[in-house]
Amino acid sequence: MLDQTIPSAPASARAASIVRTERRADGVAVLTLDDPAESHNTITPALVGELSAAVEAAFADAAVRAVVLRSGKKDSFLVGANLDFVRSIRFAQDAEEASREVARRFERLGAGPKPVVAYVHGSALGGGFELALACTASIATDDAKTALGLPEVKLGLIPAANGLFRIAERAGLRAALDLGLTGKNLRPAAALRLGLVDDVAPAAVGLETAVRLASRLADEPGHARALAKRRRRRGVGEQLERALLEDNPLGRLALFRRARAETLKKTRGYYPAAERVVDLLARFGARGFRAAADLEPRAFGDLVVSETAHRLIDLFFAQTALKKDDGLAPSERAVAFPVERVAVLGAGFMGAGIAAVSARAGLEVRMKDTDDAAVGRGLRYVKDLFDARVRRGSMTARDRDAAFARLSGAIDYSGLRNADVVIEAVFEDLALKHSVIRDVERRVRETCVIASNTSSIPITRIAEASSRPEMIVGMHYFSPVHQMPLLEVIRTKASDPRAIVTAVALGKKQGKTVIVVNDGPGFYTTRILVPYLNEAAHLLAEGAPIEAVDAAMVDWGFPVGPFQLMDEVGIDVGAHVGEVTEAAFGERMRPPPAFGALRVDDRRGKKNARGFYLYGSAAPRRRTVDATVYDVLGLSPKAGAVTADEIALRCGLAMVNESIRCHGDGVVSGARDGDVGAILGVGFPAFRGGPFRYADALGMPEVLRRMRSLEQRFGARFEPAPLLVEMARSGRRFYA
Ligand code: NAI
Repeated sequence: MLDQTIPSAPASARAASIVRTERRADGVAVLTLDDPAESHNTITPALVGELSAAVEAAFADAAVRAVVLRSGKKDSFLVGANLDFVRSIRFAQDAEEASREVARRFERLGAGPKPVVAYVHGSALGGGFELALACTASIATDDAKTALGLPEVKLGLIPAANGLFRIAERAGLRAALDLGLTGKNLRPAAALRLGLVDDVAPAAVGLETAVRLASRLADEPGHARALAKRRRRRGVGEQLERALLEDNPLGRLALFRRARAETLKKTRGYYPAAERVVDLLARFGARGFRAAADLEPRAFGDLVVSETAHRLIDLFFAQTALKKDDGLAPSERAVAFPVERVAVLGAGFMGAGIAAVSARAGLEVRMKDTDDAAVGRGLRYVKDLFDARVRRGSMTARDRDAAFARLSGAIDYSGLRNADVVIEAVFEDLALKHSVIRDVERRVRETCVIASNTSSIPITRIAEASSRPEMIVGMHYFSPVHQMPLLEVIRTKASDPRAIVTAVALGKKQGKTVIVVNDGPGFYTTRILVPYLNEAAHLLAEGAPIEAVDAAMVDWGFPVGPFQLMDEVGIDVGAHVGEVTEAAFGERMRPPPAFGALRVDDRRGKKNARGFYLYGSAAPRRRTVDATVYDVLGLSPKAGAVTADEIALRCGLAMVNESIRCHGDGVVSGARDGDVGAILGVGFPAFRGGPFRYADALGMPEVLRRMRSLEQRFGARFEPAPLLVEMARSGRRFYA
């Protein structure tokens, strides 16, 4: 297919060209990739066609000795395949041909008659990284924006232009497995260490460095070989490891057996792209570059048209759309107040996490608690987080020091007058939150937004103590704050649109995907979690063993099972949230009566090492259920009491139905936000696309049929959401 669409005419013949060629007096042609239709360069048939034509023209031009490839975009090189294009492909064979063609054209870059040097400034992701790897040599800038990686696996795809094999050739199979399976980014220094770029230079002199290298490669025929040798230079330990593990068949067998087992343990077979990465690299290890490259297009083609890739790309599109969304209804308009200074009240687990992501985002942060020890613990927590980042190479020591310097602690309200936003994360206690709100309001400026990070108390109730409820919103972060990607901003009927857009803008600055929901008990994410956790409790009460329930839900695609989640979040916290939702929604949200015994037994979960599982030094290494919890609950579990399918059906649908209720009640503004919130906030299986995409895939009549049958067996807690009933009747779907 690409063959037909890739133009062979030179770029200059087309109206809006993507590739510009500048022929310098020193005989180096600088090719600039700059797609006028996109904010970042992406791989499209047009880009590949023009690039290829420009490179061939330079190869044929007697006045050109060498070529440098660079991007005309400010801070990105090339960010990978154009996903609109990928998503539009309907037949595997078309994607297969596209992959074969791109790989063939990239191969020419490093195998042509003249050297081609990639000058990478900004993100070189997926096909962008593969492009750089395919060139004769590459130079990256040391800029904070420069990153190299193969994120395809996160979208249900694989790199499709032999990048995996080029990485394996240079850095070894383990590095290629690591990059291909995690999709993580490399900083330039790490890429240099692995031999995946040939030099790192400051952006100010980067292009000149690349031109010099290109010239030298043209002048000295032996220099390319010297570079190739240098890429493979390793320490003694690494050489030994490669000799033992990668260069001998038995070692490789062990390496891939482990990689396969670990991959399947993580993916449960739901994310086939990861398995294909392992297959392809195993083939590379056993039979070499050509044999592996022959298989790659077919694997890519199959993945491109798979449901999994479609769901993951849809999720990516939804997150991208949310980046541009200010969270207001189309009829509303408001401009965010500028935010430079943030005050965080409470230096506990959540407060310190919020302070960390704020300071990291370049904001001045004041963190207040009631005594020096608590403030000290909060500061220490942030320091440890930053130090860990520096150790992992995802933050420079200089950035850490600067971020930490933006953070200060206090035990009084001094400095509050300067705050643009105050986020409270004190204990979950309404009277305390009220008194804090009153204290704060006396001291802040008129335009200061006050946000609560409560996990369960309706924001409207918190705002009852306020003299300016229009400036109060919820900012519901997830734990641990620095890792969890979602922020739920909660608006009340009184919230000023300016307060909402300010909170949304702040959340984005902190690196979060932000959804705005309407206030109500449990907001959105907590509300859909409660019936799911309650259903797990009902199953346990019926005799299903704890590990069987958890295993069934992990097998269904959740990252952890419901009981493990309760232990992590805190059984006491869960019970408290449950009370709030039960008070609001009645029987539907009622846990089995026996569960009250957990409180009497002081079972709070992991934090006090008394939960559904064993903790502490005496606990076995394998996660093991604390069998005494059955005595506390007065239960005797029976293996096989309930099948895994039934567990998944009941817990899964409990969450899906509640999500649809939230949509019907106007808590979430639409299916997109509901899906993103469920996947990023509570771990709904991403490959299923979220509760709304899942309902669409099953079909509303089928979801309704299953709900009705469960309602007959278990009563009101499975009463179908009114919106579900209506949609099944009218034949509507959530997504067009
Ligand atoms: P925590 O117990 O770790 O921290 C609370 C901190 O607030 C303590 O350091 C305490 O000394 C401080 N504090 C109490 N009164 C204060 C006052 N008047 N001024 C300043 N500081 C005061 O609790 P955590 O887990 O950080 O929770 C805080 C809030 O975040 C709660 O509302 C909770 O519901 C919510 N939340 C918790 C999540 C979690 O997973 N832990 C998730 C989402 C929200």
